[in-house]
Amino acid sequence: MSTGYIVAFACTLVCPWVSGVTFELETEEFAPERGLLVTSRPTASNKQAVWMLASNYLKLEFCLSSETDLQVSDIVVSNDGDEDVVDVLLDWEKIAEFRTFKKSLGGKGWDEYKPIGPVGIKNRLSPGRHTLVLNVTHSDDYGVEVDKIEMTMNDEDLEEDVFRCRVFCYDHIGYTHIHGRDHIHSARAVQRSFKTDCAEVDNLKIPFYHRSVSSFMLTASHPQYKAFVNVKRPDFTNCEMALENLWRFEDFTYTNESELKLRGDHAVLTKTQNENHDIIVIFFNLRGPKRGDTESEIGSILSLGLQQTLDAPIEIGVQYFGREKEWSTPVFKNFKTEDFNWTISTPDFTWIEGPENVLRILLPLDTTREIEFDYISLRKRPVKEEVAFKIYDNDDVVLEGVDVDFWWQNGKQMTVNILDQGKTYNNADYLRFYQKVPWSEKGYAQTLALYQDGIARLLPITPPGIDWIPFGSSVLIGEFKPFFPRPAAPIQHIDIDLRKLELKVYYENNNTARMELKSSFDETSLLVTDMEFKRLSRWPFLMFKSMWIKNGNSDVDHVSVNGNDQRRILGGWKKLYGTSFAFFRKCLSKHNTLSPDLRVEILEAHNEI
Ligand SMILES: *[C@@H]1O[C@H](CO)[C@@H](O)[C@H](O)[C@H]1NC(C)=O
Ligand SMILES: *[C@@H]1O[C@H](CO)[C@@H](O)[C@H](O)[C@H]1NC(C)=O
Ligand SMILES: *[C@@H]1O[C@H](CO)[C@@H](O)[C@H](O)[C@H]1NC(C)=O
Ligand SMILES: *[C@@H]1O[C@H](CO)[C@@H](O)[C@H](O)[C@H]1NC(C)=O
Repeated sequence: MSTGYIVAFACTLVCPWVSGVTFELETEEFAPERGLLVTSRPTASNKQAVWMLASNYLKLEFCLSSETDLQVSDIVVSNDGDEDVVDVLLDWEKIAEFRTFKKSLGGKGWDEYKPIGPVGIKNRLSPGRHTLVLNVTHSDDYGVEVDKIEMTMNDEDLEEDVFRCRVFCYDHIGYTHIHGRDHIHSARAVQRSFKTDCAEVDNLKIPFYHRSVSSFMLTASHPQYKAFVNVKRPDFTNCEMALENLWRFEDFTYTNESELKLRGDHAVLTKTQNENHDIIVIFFNLRGPKRGDTESEIGSILSLGLQQTLDAPIEIGVQYFGREKEWSTPVFKNFKTEDFNWTISTPDFTWIEGPENVLRILLPLDTTREIEFDYISLRKRPVKEEVAFKIYDNDDVVLEGVDVDFWWQNGKQMTVNILDQGKTYNNADYLRFYQKVPWSEKGYAQTLALYQDGIARLLPITPPGIDWIPFGSSVLIGEFKPFFPRPAAPIQHIDIDLRKLELKVYYENNNTARMELKSSFDETSLLVTDMEFKRLSRWPFLMFKSMWIKNGNSDVDHVSVNGNDQRRILGGWKKLYGTSFAFFRKCLSKHNTLSPDLRVEILEAHNEI
């Protein structure tokens, strides 16, 4: 027995660390790799253990994200027969050994799993991957069974996914070089995020408040981890897809005698009558801009299908009540015995946000026949692909406008005036700026996308060897109501000087700001100056938006303020105060692996009160 082992043992009685984190490793997970036999035992944890004989060894792997002291705090074993001796090796260096107790229970001893207590310790283990080996050095013919191993680390922040080498986080990553500015009042960043399991939802929402800001800078830079995979496809796992059907009722029968009342999620179908018709009426509720949705705005398709049971023709009409707040002129179709369905389109903006939408199916008055419906449904019309058009191209900079088929902002449009051309464009829902890639003859990289609703997305120039990198996080620039589900700061007009890459932005609420786009080899920044924002004391001027499910599956995982005060992006804080904020990833992400980190730096404020 080495002295190190004695010291280790003593330490476990008076532990050098008070708080730490403990994880268990099930041995059976690592047995196949060594060709060891996994036994089925009802009394073992996970009902399985690993059987080992002299000269067998078992190798377990784990990972650490920062320098840590580690204690093998327990090993659970069973034995029947003579004592066995097992070496414990950490990174192939012996740190301890333990013995099983001699026990002769004629085979029953195998079911008695016993913890042997703390066995060994290793101080200042480096971040990275490590191995723990159990090597049976002496045993009887029957060997020993090992059930599980428990390890305790004095790194409270160590997450289980990191310990199990499922996620790789880098302790050294941070933005300590981005300092705060003492002469400017701090901005306040407020946590308004929620949890999600869907990677295509922006669950992180962090609005920024500052009473007198007049200039700030946004900077997008490549993530600090070294990764050469460029995962950029969306991941819809666990996502609730937007429903195409606004409502749908199936398999019901209209009769003159019986009641008819069907309930859907946001719709009710029932029957009524007026002086001209027997009527099937559907009342329904639609989500609209107030909820960040387009259900009530976009055109729709009504489909109606009858069971194939008509014995004589029947005339059926359709009439609706929506945004116009009056009944539409009814349209009729004569269903002959061989027709069973009918599709009617309604134009965009037929409906209205909320519960005031009504649709009537008109039947001949005093209909005494049974009419069997296969279905009646209302769905959103299909959306066409967005159309990009070139606005400007001087070989260094390319500007495209993009017309989105159904832009969620209630049909609002911004006008874009290109000062270099003296020309105005009014059908762009968003703009895409491309800049020439320095390391290629003809390549361009998108560095900024600016949307009519005030959202901006920045990218550093695409690194050599890659076609494009994805956006991840985005920002909303402008004053907005932060409690709206989808806050917006609608832009009315932009004047653009493309030679200087300068934009003057005029918001719908009469605020204005100047923006300047600059790209170096590894960063793109948007300098916002001359901010004339009228209600800074009340509303935020900026919002950071992004996605975090867990470390390793996120577009951002940490935020740091004024170069210190590093926090997890979600949890543990409600408000942060500072003049410099860095949103970044410490953990290699499987989502948008190369999307950029983003910094927000307050540069100037109006004379402070
Ligand atoms: C396990 O122990 C045996 C006997 O002491 C030794 O020969 C062997 O090299 C050890 N294996 C490892 C992986 O340390
Ligand atoms: C409409 O009815 C015809 C038969 O008349 C059938 O072939 C077709 O599939 C129906 N369409 C729908 C959408 O039910
Ligand atoms: C329903 O129709 C039947 C004929 O099929 C008729 O005898 C009956 O009076 C009608 N009932 C009502 C309530 O109009
Ligand atoms: C913006 O200014 C125009 C013209 O001065 C005015 O009509 C409008 O009401 C203003 N809008 C807001 C939101 O203040």
